[in-house]
Amino acid sequence: MSSISHPIRIAVFPVAGLGTRFLPATKASPKEMLTIVDKPLIQYAVEEAYAAGVRHMVFVTGRSKRAIEDHFDTAYELESELEAADKSEMLATVRAVQPADMDCSYVRQPRSLGLGHAVLCAAPIVGEQPFAVLLADDLMTGPQGAGNGQGVLQQMAGAYQELGCSLLAVQEVPPDQVQRYGIVAGPGAGQRLMRVERIVEKPAPQDAPSHMGVAGRYVLTPRIFGELRQQPPGAGGEIQLTDAIARLMTKEAVYAYQYEGKRYDCGSKEGFLQATVELALQHPKLGAGFRAYLRQLEL
Ligand code: UTP
Repeated sequence: MSSISHPIRIAVFPVAGLGTRFLPATKASPKEMLTIVDKPLIQYAVEEAYAAGVRHMVFVTGRSKRAIEDHFDTAYELESELEAADKSEMLATVRAVQPADMDCSYVRQPRSLGLGHAVLCAAPIVGEQPFAVLLADDLMTGPQGAGNGQGVLQQMAGAYQELGCSLLAVQEVPPDQVQRYGIVAGPGAGQRLMRVERIVEKPAPQDAPSHMGVAGRYVLTPRIFGELRQQPPGAGGEIQLTDAIARLMTKEAVYAYQYEGKRYDCGSKEGFLQATVELALQHPKLGAGFRAYLRQLEL
């Protein structure tokens, strides 16, 4: 265990999945561009990483994902029109999407060979430094809701600086839902931390070693790339990140971090609707009116 480790400066956003749970919306557009209130999912994740100190965002993209690149690029025509029309608030909203000190890189995953394979596609850009992985379809809010207080990755980046080890975000999940998650087990190692001794991808309820499910935030040491390179395809013929983490654990410590906050599975229609309602209620401008609207519905 090292004392103070280097801060996490680079994050990988695997956005090359097919998004089959959200068809037909995801037929021709990326699920990460689905919008909660007024921002696409990918922007929430990028803002969370930026707030945690990350300044280099690496997107692992695939077919029909061009909208993501456009979203984080300069919208020259739009910006000049807004400037000419003196619409400074809208201009600021557009420009805030890509702060001047943030770099974006893009790498293609030629085929959807799994999350582990997508992360491996980022290896030439990440190199030999620790990095974060954020799955944008898991929208995470911190303890004080969207846009306020410490985000989940920021909490994990703080824990990483103390531990210098890979970290997986975890939450307690209902026993009848364990088969939707990677499930971890191991001894407690201080507040919010567990040393991972077992990790099982989507176990049947009777085989689950605990009820602690992995959510879409990771801090990983670059040694994971070596494990991914040797990783044969697992469940569904995909190269699973979970399997590579299970091998990494035999070589160096991996911790689970029980984050403070809330996760919305926006890759599913139910989770997307829940996030829409809750974030709309929290929205500084829309919240009060939306609450009044919901109250008068006959439910
Ligand atoms: P999911 O398991 O949610 O898969 O991937 P999916 O294909 O996106 O969606 P469904 O299940 O078909 O509806 C988890 C994350 O890993 C990325 C996805 O974009 C998502 O952020 N991923 C998955 C890749 O980048 N490449 C892959 O080959 C698979």
